[in-house]
Amino acid sequence: MRKLLLAAAAVAIIASPGIAAAQSPLVIKFSHVVAEKTPKGQAALKFKEEAERLLPGKVKVEVYPNSQLFGDAKEMEALALGDVHFISTSLSKFDKFTKKVQLFDLPFLFEDNAAVDRFQASADGKALLKSMESKNFLGLAYWHNGQKQMSANKALIAPGDAKGLKFRIQQSDILASQFQTLGATPQKLAFSEVYQALQVGTVDGQENTWSNILSQKFHEVQKHFTETNHGVIDYMVLVNAKWWNGLPKDVRDGLSKAMDSATKTNNEVAEKLNTEARAKIVASGVTTIHTLTPAQRAEWQKAMKPVWAKFEGEIGKDLIAAALKANTAKTN
Ligand code: SIN
Repeated sequence: MRKLLLAAAAVAIIASPGIAAAQSPLVIKFSHVVAEKTPKGQAALKFKEEAERLLPGKVKVEVYPNSQLFGDAKEMEALALGDVHFISTSLSKFDKFTKKVQLFDLPFLFEDNAAVDRFQASADGKALLKSMESKNFLGLAYWHNGQKQMSANKALIAPGDAKGLKFRIQQSDILASQFQTLGATPQKLAFSEVYQALQVGTVDGQENTWSNILSQKFHEVQKHFTETNHGVIDYMVLVNAKWWNGLPKDVRDGLSKAMDSATKTNNEVAEKLNTEARAKIVASGVTTIHTLTPAQRAEWQKAMKPVWAKFEGEIGKDLIAAALKANTAKTN
């Protein structure tokens, strides 16, 4: 953490407004860990297109998908150092920096993607975008991906079926607890390492969205998927706050507009890409997708519920209540 703060201070000095203004065009690096044919991959390309259209000759956006430039382990540090300017990171990967954003990892918190959307648009949701500002990370937007599905090489129909298995998880203590509660063993692994870990059996199972599963071919190395919809993978688009605030106003305004368009594109295509990915996985015929009955799903919900009590102190009861409100009503 100390290293990150020092790096963030260094980039603030290097990227002063005067220097940023002198660069023409300003090269902006956008790094992410997923494939281009995913909601985030499409949105990053839209951001490039719009930024270069709105700021001709002033900015050049280079998008690096698939962990080409930085993977999970390095992208926050790279942002602090100014080696990359935009990242769009899964909300499950911030628990080193804030416990609040881990809210999104609570199993079965949101009823559907519309509820996630309502919460993110609320005052409480928007405040989380600024929750890491003291560490010099500023969230500009949320981007949706969608609901997670669980897989293994055996059918996971009842929560007890997960017992004794090892599951790959993202960098999140809540997700670790979610699998421990089931009697399973969680293993934190970078996204780029998951396919191989599943293939060679370092882990037995995983949880992810259909678009990530298809684009990484996880279905080719997992015999059974269960449509659990037990949690969400969404993203926060982050910049280095001092770099961002030091940009000339016209550039910052143009980039903000480009971000609005990219967010709109992302959120328009997310559900569609996940539905299409699911259909392609079914058509591939290489794996089986199990759909849970409402009673079976309720069993998973009950089995994972103890995780909430364990983390409500760190996340805050009020924040959890605000998220739950988004399930039923239009929020503030
Ligand atoms: C991502 O969608 O950015 C990756 C999520 C994961 O690590 O599973």
